[in-house]
Amino acid sequence: MNSIKDTEVKEEIKEELSTETKESSSTTIRLLLVEDSPQHQQLIQDALMRSTLMKMNITTAGSGEEGLELLEKNQYDVILLNYSLPHMNGLEFLWNMRKRELNIPTIMITGHGNEQVAVQAMKMGISDYVNKDGDYLNKLDMIIQRALERHELKRQQEELRQRTAYINVRLQQEKRKLENIISAIGAGLIIVDRNYRITWSNRTMEEWFKTDSDIKGMPCYVLFKRGSSNCDKCMMRATFETGVIQRVRHSLINHDGERKHYQLTTTPLMDVNGDIVQVLCLVQDITQQVSMQLKVIQTGKLAAIGELASGLAHQLNNPLVGVLNYVQLLQRRISKDDPNRELLDTVERGALQCRDIVKNLLNFSRPHHFNFELLDLQVVIDNTLVLIENTLKVENIKIIRDPSQPLPPIEGNMTQIQQVFLNLMMNSRHAMPGGGEIRISADTVHDPDDHQDYVVVKFADSGHGIPKSIIDKIFDPFFTTKDKEYGTGLGLSIAHGIIKAHNGKIKVESEEGKGATFMIYFPIAHSKDGF
Ligand SMILES: Nc1ncnc2c1ncn2[C@@H]1O[C@H](COP(=O)(O)OP(=O)(O)OP(=O)(O)O)[C@@H](O)[C@H]1O
Ligand SMILES: [Mg+2]
Repeated sequence: MNSIKDTEVKEEIKEELSTETKESSSTTIRLLLVEDSPQHQQLIQDALMRSTLMKMNITTAGSGEEGLELLEKNQYDVILLNYSLPHMNGLEFLWNMRKRELNIPTIMITGHGNEQVAVQAMKMGISDYVNKDGDYLNKLDMIIQRALERHELKRQQEELRQRTAYINVRLQQEKRKLENIISAIGAGLIIVDRNYRITWSNRTMEEWFKTDSDIKGMPCYVLFKRGSSNCDKCMMRATFETGVIQRVRHSLINHDGERKHYQLTTTPLMDVNGDIVQVLCLVQDITQQVSMQLKVIQTGKLAAIGELASGLAHQLNNPLVGVLNYVQLLQRRISKDDPNRELLDTVERGALQCRDIVKNLLNFSRPHHFNFELLDLQVVIDNTLVLIENTLKVENIKIIRDPSQPLPPIEGNMTQIQQVFLNLMMNSRHAMPGGGEIRISADTVHDPDDHQDYVVVKFADSGHGIPKSIIDKIFDPFFTTKDKEYGTGLGLSIAHGIIKAHNGKIKVESEEGKGATFMIYFPIAHSKDGF
């Protein structure tokens, strides 16, 4: 990055200027003498040629007009100007010089009693004036030298002013560039002083941590912990005391009610003596990273549970088959009127129930082992409703089926998809403890994002809805808002897994207090034979 050190540049300029002055002092001074009296011309020339202070090259002009003409053609270092000239007096000459933007040090020679003229001439920018008294010729070279030095000093000052103005503009540009970079880095930045007060923050920080009062001036522990004093393991204090960079993770609920995770990194900022006077804190939003990590952990847990379930199911399967076989053998041996027959039938029902549970466990743990067939989703919905309709009716939940055109087939596993629909309807049921309705519709859609045609099935309930703060988490394994006896938090994550195995997708729309709608998309099967 281009950065200009102000003091360094000023030093450089000073050096440059002083060399220029040294050079000019050793060269011949080009002087223009505007004087109408030849006698005075001669006297002045003689006096200046005798000077030991400087070497001079003198050109004379007998009138103001001639002087201006010479100025147009030649370069002069200094002008010696008599005030009393015919046609054009000294002031008019000065005015003409100004009009032509000629900036040459000029010394005016005035007669006795002309001080007022001299004051006016000074206002017009002459370097000095001299009265034609007895001794003036001997002082002339010194006056010229002084005028030259003053003029040079003025020139240097002006140059310095211009360069400083230029440097200031560049500094402002650099500052703006830096500010833009700082606000575009996608991370928060704050600077904290020794009293833990925030002395500066970037725009990102102000957007992330919206507060009623200004962040600047606020103690860092109020901003991050809403505390009233320093945190127990204060990373700012550690950085002030040790000068070592500190890194911690911190989570908080933001102004929208969402939990956010941040990584804070503190770096010491030192003054010219090497003392730590402030601490810079970099604030990175790692919420997505943390939730990904959690997902990975939870998916791992789910996989482990799946393994366990499938192992258990396999081990239970063999003895169960034995129990069923023997029960059925006994049923054949015992007559229908035998009082023990009813007991045996109950055992058989129990064993059959266990066999279904084992089968389901195996299905859950290995969804990809299922056979896929062409399915009409209306039929799958019908079959699912047969299983759950009664339960819903008892709880005052009405099912409304929106009419639809015949649907194209999809490729899938009936039991698995039923499982998904059941999970969704069970969730709706729990969201409507006082009753309500579930509206079911099915249609075809084209998704322009992946250019696929889908059959979409919608389940819209009139329940309590899903708060914005948790809607991103409901598909996470084990995420539940229900008591332990009602929910394990696996329903939607299993549904999600099954839909993924069908190359489909699931979406949710909900507003707290206004129900929830789940949409499940299944790719339309491209079968040559159809049904
Ligand atoms: N229709 C819905 N209305 C309101 N909230 C819902 C709805 N469906 C899901 N949720 C929310 O999503 C959470 C997760 O749902 P999920 O089905 O994964 O688990 P669960 O129902 O809590 O437990 P499980 O399904 O394992 O018995 C629920 O606890 C609930 O907070
Ligand atoms: Mg559920």
